[in-house]
Amino acid sequence: MSEAELPIQLDRNSPNSLAAQLASQLRANILSGVLQAEHTLPATRRLATELGISRGVVVRAFEQLSGEGFLVSNGAGGTQVAVRPDIHSRPLVGREPANASPRIDLIDLTPGRPSGSPFQDRQWRSAWRLAAAEQGKVHLPPALGTSALREAVADHLAVSRGLAVDADDVIITGGTSDALQLVVAMLRTRAPQPRILVEDPGYPTARRVMTAAGAHIVTVPVDENGLKSSQLAGLKDIPDAVLVTPSHQYPLGGRMAVQERLGLLKWADQHGVLVLEDDYDSEFRHSRMPLPAVASLPGGADVVLLGTFSKNLSPWLRCGYLVVRGDAGQRLKATREALDTPVAGILQSAIAHYIQGGGLSRHITRARREYSHRRSLLMDRLGSRSDLALSALDGGLHAVVRFDHPDATDVAAKAFELGLRVIPLATYYADRPAENGLVLGYGATSDLQLAKALTILASLIGPPMSEIARQPIPSDQPAPPA
Ligand SMILES: Cc1ncc(COP(=O)(O)O)c(C=O)c1O
Repeated sequence: MSEAELPIQLDRNSPNSLAAQLASQLRANILSGVLQAEHTLPATRRLATELGISRGVVVRAFEQLSGEGFLVSNGAGGTQVAVRPDIHSRPLVGREPANASPRIDLIDLTPGRPSGSPFQDRQWRSAWRLAAAEQGKVHLPPALGTSALREAVADHLAVSRGLAVDADDVIITGGTSDALQLVVAMLRTRAPQPRILVEDPGYPTARRVMTAAGAHIVTVPVDENGLKSSQLAGLKDIPDAVLVTPSHQYPLGGRMAVQERLGLLKWADQHGVLVLEDDYDSEFRHSRMPLPAVASLPGGADVVLLGTFSKNLSPWLRCGYLVVRGDAGQRLKATREALDTPVAGILQSAIAHYIQGGGLSRHITRARREYSHRRSLLMDRLGSRSDLALSALDGGLHAVVRFDHPDATDVAAKAFELGLRVIPLATYYADRPAENGLVLGYGATSDLQLAKALTILASLIGPPMSEIARQPIPSDQPAPPA
């Protein structure tokens, strides 16, 4: 593609700045493969002239994307699309043999992939046999979910989360992405483009899905313990909803203190803001007890708890749930009734049988043991290095490793050449400079694969300068006797 053919269209009447629009369209072109790794972008001055905007706007957009790890500047060589293992390039005609197959020995530490063991579970198969044997299923499944699964979810939350939930307050969803679309559709019945406040860094899929569904995403910078109520008090424009990951900030891994949770609820109640609590992996605590869910704390604010079977079972199922309350809950149910359910009845039935037969809690216990073992391996291999900061290890299926040098995007690219996929922390940042680091998902690897991956990473990140300084300087004198 020649440079002049870049498919960019800017709207001067949009509430989003020209730089934000340009950055977002370039990002979309990179993610969709229209712009390939190592593609050189037009010079800022030329692109500005072609688009009829000032050069400063182009520079701001390029800087934003460089901060996110999508672009790299090569000085006089121009600005290029970064090589990122997490973005699959379109196979270019004539570049790859037609029968090229994906590397089967790739060790994939992409976060969000849980242990694959439930599918080998006898109880899982028996749950599916029971679901398949159910007679008379010739109608559409109910829009809010089958009563069996809504009850099973309520029972599961009582045991695993200490949440007292009425099955009537549960809506079965096609996972968190579907749940977020539903929430945006509900908010749009009152505001054409609802504003949703999200954590930065945060879950990129949530930002993408809610934007595609018609929301306007506003970000707030957070550290690993998430949103602070003092930040909310300083907001000039009140959003319609706020999406938080209080139990395990995604991806940095801390948790929101109870005082902050109460502060969030108070602020949300005062301003009529809907709280969306993404409770994606709270069943996997390794060291500290989980704190009470925001949805279980007292307060007048409407809170929606988003749960998923993607982490405690598998993303392959595409199934999750919402726990709703208050006026927003009624409106969410009405919207789901209007839109209908995307979740197959037989799937709901199989999951309900699996939960009620005790399969899910046994699987979680097994998986928790596996994850905590791999977490120890990670701490053992990387935890003692003074140049690395390991975090997000209290729970969940991923860890974060931060370091000053070398550049994490380069480390990820080199690791990929060696058969290891890791995701740079920059991928999770939206509107602020990213920290240098990697997110390491350890849910789906074997211990052996993880050990191999950690050896590769430890060597790519290099020994700390202090250790190099301690190493003896090679000399041509014979070594002294021991
Ligand atoms: C922060 C966060 N929330 C939720 C999910 C689950 O999303 P879904 O249920 O759409 O698979 C993930 C999966 O990786 C996640 O990282």
